[in-house]
Formats: sequence, C-alpha cells, structure tokens
Amino acid sequence: MGNGTTDRQAGQVDKNRLPRHIAIIMDGNGRWATRRGLPRTAGHKAGAETFRRIATYCKNLGVQYLTVYAFSTENWKRSETEVNAIMMLLKRYLLEAIDTMEKDSIRLRFFGDMTPISPDLQALAHRTDEITDRLDSRDFQANICLNYGGRDEILRAVRRFAADCAAGKRRPEELDEASFSGYLDSAGIPDPELIVRPSGELRLSNFLLWQCAYSEFYYTDTLWPDFDEAELDRAIAAYQRRDRRFGGVK
Ligand code: FPP
Repeated sequence: MGNGTTDRQAGQVDKNRLPRHIAIIMDGNGRWATRRGLPRTAGHKAGAETFRRIATYCKNLGVQYLTVYAFSTENWKRSETEVNAIMMLLKRYLLEAIDTMEKDSIRLRFFGDMTPISPDLQALAHRTDEITDRLDSRDFQANICLNYGGRDEILRAVRRFAADCAAGKRRPEELDEASFSGYLDSAGIPDPELIVRPSGELRLSNFLLWQCAYSEFYYTDTLWPDFDEAELDRAIAAYQRRDRRFGGVK
C-alpha cells in the first residue's frame, strides 16, 4: 500500500471528489474459470454479472460514466465457442436493458466498429441507442466497447474527418484536439479520470488510446469476476490520493 496508508484509508472514498468517468478493462475471466476447473465461458458469464453489479454501484455512487472493454478488435482470434459465448452474454444483457433502462434511467452506448457484429446484436444495440436518446444526458451512462480498438477508433475518426474535408465541410488546418475528439466514439464524453485493470496485467491493450492521455491508472491482482464494490472503492480512493498536475507544477 505504501505512503503510510492504512487498510481502512485505502478504501475511503470522498463522494465530493468522484471521477466523472471510470473505465475498466474487464480482465481475468478465463483464469478465474480455469482455476475452478470450469470452461472459460463460465468466467465470462461471471464477468457479465460483475459488470451489472459494478455499473449499479457506479450509478448509485454518482459516477456519471462507466466504460468497459467487452470485446477488442483482437479478440476474434479466440475460439468460435468463446466468441459466441461473449456475444450471447451481450445479447442477453441488451434484452434485459431494453426492459429496464428507462425505469432505472441508465443510458447505454457502444464504442467500436459494429459492422462485423451479427445483425441481431446490432438491432438490439440500435434499440438501446434509441432509448438512450430519450433519456436525460445527465443520467448515468455505461459505454460498452465491442469490436473496439483504440487505434481503430482513431483511424475511423481520421477517415470521417478526411471525408468531411473532401466534402468541403471542414478544412485540415481547423483540426484541433477538441474538434478531433468529436469524431471519436467517445464524442461528447469527458476523458476517463481513472482506468482500472484487474487481474495483475500492467498493459493498456489498445484501450482508449486517445482518451487516456491524463488518466490515472489503477491495477489490482483481483480477477474481474471477483472484483466488487470494495475493490472499486479502493481504486477510487487511490485515484483521490494522486497528485494530478497535467504537466504543470503546483
Ligand atoms: C477478458 O478476460 C475478458 C473478455 C475478453 C471478455 C469480457 C466480456 C464479458 C465480461 C461479457 C460482456 C458482457 C457484458 C454484459 C458487458 P480474459 O478472457 O482475457 O481472461 P484471461 O486473461 O484470464 O484469459
């Protein structure tokens, strides 16, 4: 823990200084299952439950945005069984969300290139998008990264900007950081102040490459299916102890 921080202080959250946006790499599902002698897909099922629980906790705490990495542009390399199981869990979640989002005031968006996603899952995402459009922009919003890669997101944004230039709607010299952000999947959403990676890996794995410029990172050995509210409290408390200078001096 270090810096003389006691166990109790380690999880003490100041509700007046919450991050507005938390992003999580939901890692460790496969290891969690293998350690229990279960198929990897059982780890993803448990991971989807953890997502529901942590999203509810973020909403109740007052964190406005939660972005989770559900499926990367590289995850297609996994077995067909595993890919299908993840897509099925997403479908199940969206079907549930369609019935509950409005009542619970939960907005839902997808980040990523949806073109190779199955038409039925795309149709469900379209329906959750429509419900989100009707909800208040101050409501809690979960962003699910699906067929997402940070590099791919930047490339798609560049293509859209280039197309606008070719159509005479924009000029290259106008482009600055704020206007470029408007071409990303995360347009209109503040950058995550805190990025969490469970399962002991110390990598970013192509997650939110543009948005992470000044994010604080929190790593834990806990595997995603075991990640709970207390663990998120520890991550937020650690973030609140950081000295954020954004390249300046205090
Ligand atoms: C990474 O762990 C996890 C994934 C690639 C899939 C995450 C997907 C879900 C939790 C289901 C999504 C559903 C909802 C409702 C958001 P890993 O498999 O790489 O774990 P390992 O490193 O231990 O093998």
